[in-house]
Amino acid sequence: MQTRLQVAVQKSGRLLEGSLKLLKECGIRVDNGKDQLKASAGNFPIDILYLRNSDIPQYVEDGVADIGIIGENTAFEKQKHIDTVLPLGFSKCRLSIAVPKNTAYPGPAFLNGKRIATSYPNSLRHYLDAHRLNAEIHEISGSVEIAPNIGLADAICDLVSSGSTLFKNGLEEKEVVLKSEACIVAQPKLGAEKQAILDKLVFRIEAVLKARNNKYILMNAPDEKVAEIIRVLPGMKSPTVMPLAEKGWSSIHTVIEESHFWDIIDQLKDSGAQGILVVPIEKMII
Ligand code: PRP
Repeated sequence: MQTRLQVAVQKSGRLLEGSLKLLKECGIRVDNGKDQLKASAGNFPIDILYLRNSDIPQYVEDGVADIGIIGENTAFEKQKHIDTVLPLGFSKCRLSIAVPKNTAYPGPAFLNGKRIATSYPNSLRHYLDAHRLNAEIHEISGSVEIAPNIGLADAICDLVSSGSTLFKNGLEEKEVVLKSEACIVAQPKLGAEKQAILDKLVFRIEAVLKARNNKYILMNAPDEKVAEIIRVLPGMKSPTVMPLAEKGWSSIHTVIEESHFWDIIDQLKDSGAQGILVVPIEKMII
């Protein structure tokens, strides 16, 4: 029987959509029935196991799943013997300490002797020890932001993404304990066949992630402006320059990181570029 890699993803939660979208963009078709907890990919040797997020590190350590897609925060919190293979660039958030709005907060020393509610006791303990702070950790499994309002704690330590949950609960972010994004975690010792499947998967994911961060851009310019425009462009390699049907005009094509594009757009226009098109790239293999 063909070896298949067992891939654990969140059964529900904010990583699920991004995880399945990424697999789809890698050309992996997951045939999934409603409420099915295990599904197989039809065209790639992986099976998907839908598991509770907080259980995934243990399943990966035990070898029930070979790899998992979880938040780096979960990987750090659970302290299992698993390797972080690749950050995936989505579900970015931070684990932060927050206090009620208008609290006089001179700095982390404020936390000494205080009660902090969290679902991340190990990560918080690590932060407190590193900063030589002595606070009482009050572990709760959910709705952490309500703890100060009901007199359960003086501060909280929870995930912050947009910050709207903190805002709605009258809390202010004060310290960042760790930054996180979705990542692939794996068993440290996959056999050779499973490692080969993981390598193929990582190759595809890297091509998708590179493509997400880059754009193909095209623009027209008078021939005498082409050299000046090329100096502005931070492309992968030398841009492609092609003559237009209209004499004296050229079309310039290149690939650049999206963040760079916004930095240079004014320079491009000032240099004489016209009709600038920015086109998404589906895959990028360098
Ligand atoms: C997380 C976290 C916060 C919220 C922060 O909960 O626990 O409550 O998101 O996001 P925001 O800064 O965008 O408001 P999530 O909804 O993921 O579910 P959970 O309670 O199961 O952690």
